[in-house]
Amino acid sequence: MFERLQKKWNVSGFKLILIIAIFAIGGSLTGYSGRKLMSFWEIDRGIGWVVLYILLITIIWPLAVLLVSIPLGQFSFFKNYIQRIGKRMLGKSKVKSGKSNTGDSSFMAQIAIFASGAGSNAQKIIDHFRNHSSIKVALIICNKPGAGVLSIAERENIPALLIEKEKFFRGDSYVPELKEKNIDFIVLAGFLWKIPPALIKAYTGKIINIHPALLPKYGGKGMYGHFVHEAVIASGDKESGITIHYVDEVYDHGKIIFQDKCAVLSTDTAESLAQKIHELEHKNFPVVIETLLTR
Ligand code: GAR
Repeated sequence: MFERLQKKWNVSGFKLILIIAIFAIGGSLTGYSGRKLMSFWEIDRGIGWVVLYILLITIIWPLAVLLVSIPLGQFSFFKNYIQRIGKRMLGKSKVKSGKSNTGDSSFMAQIAIFASGAGSNAQKIIDHFRNHSSIKVALIICNKPGAGVLSIAERENIPALLIEKEKFFRGDSYVPELKEKNIDFIVLAGFLWKIPPALIKAYTGKIINIHPALLPKYGGKGMYGHFVHEAVIASGDKESGITIHYVDEVYDHGKIIFQDKCAVLSTDTAESLAQKIHELEHKNFPVVIETLLTR
């Protein structure tokens, strides 16, 4: 059971002990103050007493656990936890566009990262969410045997799926596998295949991509990695940057979520520009994902 909870909340063993202790202390505090208040108001035992008591502890409990979580350093976990319970009670989900399909893992937004290359962005995203209380990197999808991102998945103990062109473009686009793994959100981090309509339909508004230029410039088919940087250098542009955007059926076209810029110097080469762009990506991509999933 402890192992299941640890996986579900994506926390270390020590943090799980603290969380359980906070639940226990917060629960006792709730019961104690609830009974004290009821006896203070001198309400006769009966159905009214029970209804009022339930109402009272529903209000006191979140306050009690939040209070206890502060000295034990777990405030952000409980803040997210209580927000999620509130949203569930109101029938809302954190991930845009409707109800979460996470089933048992409904306290965790589960991300799948799609990548084709070295996976430096994937690594930064994994690092950022390693001990996160409500977001988990649950799957790595790759279309290239031997890609660096597959070694990252292995080292990080994250399930990986090597996908095939035929099934991706002319089959079910791996939607059943994604649903089966309770994936809520898809992050393209250097993924070089176009996303097929079936996948976009199954995850509308829940797929984002990072592009190594300031879209709408230098986007479209064939514009990836070093081709983008070479084109920027050749054009003589004085600045470049990154774009994080929603994915639709047109290459590098969906609504822009975030952009950040860097200078292109006359001494820059495609390699040095790639390095500056990677720095911008690593700094911003995980934070943007977190903002989208927790707002
Ligand atoms: C990143 O710079 C990303 O912006 C780019 O591929 C690189 C992957 O690097 N994506 C595209 O060009 C998509 N059109 P990484 O494998 O080290 O994360």
